[in-house]
Amino acid sequence: MSKKLYIETLGCAMNVRDSEHMIAELGAKEDYELTDRMEEADLLIINTCSVREKPVAKLFSEIGTFRKRRKEGAKIGVTGCTASHLGEEILKRAPYVDFVLGARNVSKITDVLDRHHAVEVETDYDESTYPFGDYRSNPYKAMVNISIGCDKQCTFCIVPATRGEEISIPTELIVAEVERAVKAGAKEVILLGQNVNNYGRRFSAGGEEIDSFTKLLRRVSEVEGLERIRFQSPHPLHMDDEFLEEFTANPKVCPQIHVPLQSGSTELLKRMKRGYTKEWFLDRCMKIRQMVPGVAISTDIIVGFPGESDEDFAETMEVLETVRFDQVFSFKYSPRPYTAAAEYEDQVPDEVASERLKRLQSRHDEIVDEIMSSLEGSVQEVYFEELRPGGRVAGRAADGRLVSVEGSEELLGEIRPVRITRGMRRSLEGELAG
Ligand code: SAH
Ligand code: F3S
Repeated sequence: MSKKLYIETLGCAMNVRDSEHMIAELGAKEDYELTDRMEEADLLIINTCSVREKPVAKLFSEIGTFRKRRKEGAKIGVTGCTASHLGEEILKRAPYVDFVLGARNVSKITDVLDRHHAVEVETDYDESTYPFGDYRSNPYKAMVNISIGCDKQCTFCIVPATRGEEISIPTELIVAEVERAVKAGAKEVILLGQNVNNYGRRFSAGGEEIDSFTKLLRRVSEVEGLERIRFQSPHPLHMDDEFLEEFTANPKVCPQIHVPLQSGSTELLKRMKRGYTKEWFLDRCMKIRQMVPGVAISTDIIVGFPGESDEDFAETMEVLETVRFDQVFSFKYSPRPYTAAAEYEDQVPDEVASERLKRLQSRHDEIVDEIMSSLEGSVQEVYFEELRPGGRVAGRAADGRLVSVEGSEELLGEIRPVRITRGMRRSLEGELAG
């Protein structure tokens, strides 16, 4: 009988993909299959995030729950970015944990299983050519890594310390993976990396390689049967005109883009070492809006970065008003180990940061409500991927918005036109229009 694996994934899309890779390895080499019940699992894994302090705290409460609910003899593993940054310390704080496996070490999952208290957290370990299996939690859209690690040194960010330096995955491996996914039924791929549009600057293996993200988009779009390409996340600094032209002209590339702002103040952007100014950011976003009608632009914003004054924050609000982002992921600055900003002296008091976050979010809610209701009556091409309660089916419009209609299984995996009847804050409702 096969063994059971319970896996909980925190954090970003790259973590979700790392979990899929571990599930594939454990399935192929150790005969594990997934369960959503902790009590019946033989192995419980938490794949962690360390980008802010909160998810780190969550790790210890979650593994406490694992310990209480697991069946006798079941193993507990901690993987991902917090595993990388705390390493041995996790075993000191929670000796019942069986192994600790860092991000970009996930291919070692079957090796650490039987080594009591194994800790594998090398941040220079190179998994860029490892032949992971093809397990996918969503058969309709496939996440495909195009690089690992990150070469930027944004002063607030712990990721370079947990995921190491950036290595691009060889183009032929990416294309082969996309082809396999499409053959298995996916019409959409999401190309993943911490900084996707830096693709091609460094490969660990030799060979003829594509040296820019723009060219990679072109190459991937040649895969027959593939209909939609998304990518996550690009860096505003590398959004050159050539990239914007490809983004606009390539019919398979979806009109959806994440342009992480962080702050609207050029002064703060400098202290964050982001490499662009407020003007450059606005220029890129306005150009995207002008070149790609109906494009959805999302962003990440940090409030309360050390030294953020009322004027700096007002500049962030100004960018929000100008770009009218379709989605905003906003966070209070959280000081992280191994980052330069944690040492800055002018930390912003928590009440000030909380108040700014609230203002930003409530203004953005108003903007989103306006955008979503303005979509009523429009017709969107929706790729259906999930059954919902009450006889509904949900999918994504080309711009990434969640849309649901009345319907059943036969819509799954189909791309169909939908007339939008109701715009809500987080999703749209509609009816099939053909
Ligand atoms: N390049 C990555 C970014 C990873 S971190 C990507 O492709 O997704 C995701 C977001 O978390 C960042 O864009 C930033 O807005 C936020 N973040 C990172 N470090 C943070 C910190 N110390 N405090 C608060 N938010 C942070
Ligand atoms: Fe972090 Fe900046 Fe890289 S936000 S992941 S260091 S691009």
